[in-house]
Amino acid sequence: MKNKKGLLLLLGVVLYSTQICASSNVSLLDGYEVSVEQDNLKKGATIYYNLCRLCHSLKYIKYQHLLDIGFSESEVNTLRQGKLMNKAIVSTSTPENAMKMFGMVPPDLSIMAKARKQGPEYIYSLMLSYVENSEGVYENQIFNGIKMPDVFSYSIAQGEQEKQAIQKDVADVASFLTWASDPHATERKSMGLGVIAYLVVLSGLMYLVMRRVWRRLE
Ligand code: HEC
Repeated sequence: MKNKKGLLLLLGVVLYSTQICASSNVSLLDGYEVSVEQDNLKKGATIYYNLCRLCHSLKYIKYQHLLDIGFSESEVNTLRQGKLMNKAIVSTSTPENAMKMFGMVPPDLSIMAKARKQGPEYIYSLMLSYVENSEGVYENQIFNGIKMPDVFSYSIAQGEQEKQAIQKDVADVASFLTWASDPHATERKSMGLGVIAYLVVLSGLMYLVMRRVWRRLE
């Protein structure tokens, strides 16, 4: 009994301390839910390819992986421009150029959605937290002094319509990067179902065997 109390106390302390950590975090934007729809993933991949890839690599994602989110073989062939199917999708800029431009190499985005706390929401919020300051220079409200420019030009977007269009694009990129951080998630889920079905069948068989054994004992 005493032990149980101690355990509960410990659990309380652990929960409480994670609460403290969570509340000291920057506040992320509401209104975004990760999509697993192929349309969104494909759109996000296209935006990554045309925009983010100028600076960021996806070292764990190969061209052939794009087939899993609805790209046709000929579309992938156009994207890979003669590179092998099993090559990782890397940035068009060299590390040397990046060093010259930013004084650093922009981080790989393959597992960014897992590396940051609330990764998908963080990526979404980060892109939409650029504002123009009084000197007409962009700033980011959740990452002070970020070296990445406002690539969607959100800080100077005019009107609700333009802003909403950017929000949609950003949501798709965030969903794509979430998929990229775990491209086998859906496969694993269906494998899980297979395992459960197997266990159900196995239990049925065991039951039949047991019944035969019991009958003999009687
Ligand atoms: C012109 C180059 C450039 C482009 C284009 C670009 N980025 Fe970046 N990005 C950077 C640099 C540089 C950093 C490192 C920022 C820093 O640490 O100050 C960065 C950092 C990031 C980070 C990590 C922030 C963190 O918490 O460390 C994310 C996420 C990110 N970029 C996402 C994107 C996405 C998504 C796109 C495409 C929509 C994109 N970037 C396009 C240059 C770029």
